[in-house]
Amino acid sequence: MLPNKKALEIIRKYMKIYNGKNEESIKESLINKLKKENVLVETEDKTYTLKAEDEEEMMHSKVGALKEAIYKFAKPSKIESLKNPRVLDLCSGLGYNAVVALHYNKDAEIDMVEICEEVLFLTLFLDIPYKEHEIVKDKVREYFLNKIGIKYKSDYNNVNLYVGDARKFIKENNKKYNVVFHDAFSPKRDPTLYTYDFLKEIYKKMEDNGVLISYSSAIPFRSALVDCGFIISEGESVGRKRGITLAYKNPNFKPNRINEVDERVIALSVIALPYRDRTLSSTKDEIIKNREERREKLKEKLIKINKYLSTKQIKKGKIPEEVLKIQKEDLNSSELIKKMRLKFFGNIADKIFIN
Ligand SMILES: C[S@@+](CC[C@H](N)C(=O)[O-])C[C@H]1O[C@@H](n2cnc3c(N)ncnc32)[C@H](O)[C@@H]1O
Repeated sequence: MLPNKKALEIIRKYMKIYNGKNEESIKESLINKLKKENVLVETEDKTYTLKAEDEEEMMHSKVGALKEAIYKFAKPSKIESLKNPRVLDLCSGLGYNAVVALHYNKDAEIDMVEICEEVLFLTLFLDIPYKEHEIVKDKVREYFLNKIGIKYKSDYNNVNLYVGDARKFIKENNKKYNVVFHDAFSPKRDPTLYTYDFLKEIYKKMEDNGVLISYSSAIPFRSALVDCGFIISEGESVGRKRGITLAYKNPNFKPNRINEVDERVIALSVIALPYRDRTLSSTKDEIIKNREERREKLKEKLIKINKYLSTKQIKKGKIPEEVLKIQKEDLNSSELIKKMRLKFFGNIADKIFIN
């Protein structure tokens, strides 16, 4: 899913007249038009966000675009304590996460990946109140000036900008990252970047000490992370009841567990079935439809072999005692989930959710 269509249309008009020297004169008119159409929205911390294509969703939560970047991404990643971290900023959008990452660690090397040119262009005209916004702006400026044939080289070498589909980027790139910011729109509306297949590619491109962070706590997403080999964990969220997701590759500490009900649901319910995109090129509708079909089949299969439990039963803990008591063991959430699956489904456990 992309940002709001009307917003992109407006921004495109200004992209056509942009020549690098007219940033100041464009700024007021562009921002006013977007505000007038009610597609550029001021959040509670006074920073701006855009509505999404589906107007029910925005690019950031209303508690604050900057606040979200700080508390849902930079702080939980502990970026300030990492030495020369390599950061993969997926779905860079207006650049908040990249700006904040640089604010907390000036030695971070950041690969920004964003599919929508218009949203990147817009950041040139926003005022994110951290001086590191200038670094991100300069990289964006370099991209747009080069595109119209004006030679310009940004002085900042620690930020790279890739404009395109994150799925293509991950397939073609061989770097390894310490931190991955995964900031796609919600999986309910667009699961493209929440599939097992995409997350597995990310897993391969992460350093052993690496962490992936997402504001989403969706069950099929967390379930896919477990199947990819991540150790899943949960962090506090701002402005939402459910916590953010932290997924570690090989942590040298024991991460917090996610809540117990979610552990059970991910272990045993058909709603934990991950989204799939084997070719990393399916449309969002294909990905959604494919999962619905697989979910129906899985339910039928489990009923047949007498292994079907409703999600309601699972949430209430009405599951076999020997499976339930696994949750008392001193393990991390991913280990518990795998152990519960093995106990309940036996030797087909590995093939229940990923096949
Ligand atoms: C929730 S917003 C991200 C906000 C952003 N991190 C920021 O700080 O402003 C999601 C972004 O994902 C981008 N996007 C959607 N599909 C994508 C894809 N397949 N590859 C890369 N970016 C994508 C959208 O254009 C949108 O800008």
